[in-house]
Amino acid sequence: MLIQRISIPLAQTIFLLFSVLALLTAAYSIGSVQADSLSEKWLSPAPSAAKKNPIAATQNSIGAGQKIYAKTCTMCHGKSGDADGPAVIELNIHPAKLSDSNLAKESDGALFWKITTGKKPMPAYGKRLSETDRWNLVNYVRTLSKR
Ligand code: HEC
Repeated sequence: MLIQRISIPLAQTIFLLFSVLALLTAAYSIGSVQADSLSEKWLSPAPSAAKKNPIAATQNSIGAGQKIYAKTCTMCHGKSGDADGPAVIELNIHPAKLSDSNLAKESDGALFWKITTGKKPMPAYGKRLSETDRWNLVNYVRTLSKR
């Protein structure tokens, strides 16, 4: 009897604590995402931008990049690179438009560095994807602005 009388308020207290914690975490992450997307243009360091693409933009490479893109990047950047993936509405984020012709001003090395490093809310793919995969992605992303 005693245990029952104690355990109910205890469970409620724990539940309440977790709810408050979850709310605080959510508020914090929304705040930092907004702060990040408001910051100025994302530039890669010069040595990384100067890095040469070791993989020629063959049909093979572009095709391999497209497969990874469809699986990993469309949820934010959208199927055609128009920044209209499903996560955009859900998470209130503003991914770069990869179909924008301005992307041509960026070197392969710069795009590679951005995919490798990420920038909140975009994940870093340096550990998730091999170097070859990331260069193939660069080759594929290039085709999005040429459509
Ligand atoms: C969770 C959403 C999300 C995912 C998934 C994501 N990105 Fe991004 N990406 C962003 C956002 C947001 C930016 C803009 C960052 C900024 O400038 O503040 C961005 C920027 C970029 C840029 C820089 C464009 C420029 O103009 O400099 C490239 C390149 C890029 N993403 C490629 C990719 C590739 C390739 C993938 C898949 C492997 C990917 N992204 C996955 C959200 C995402």
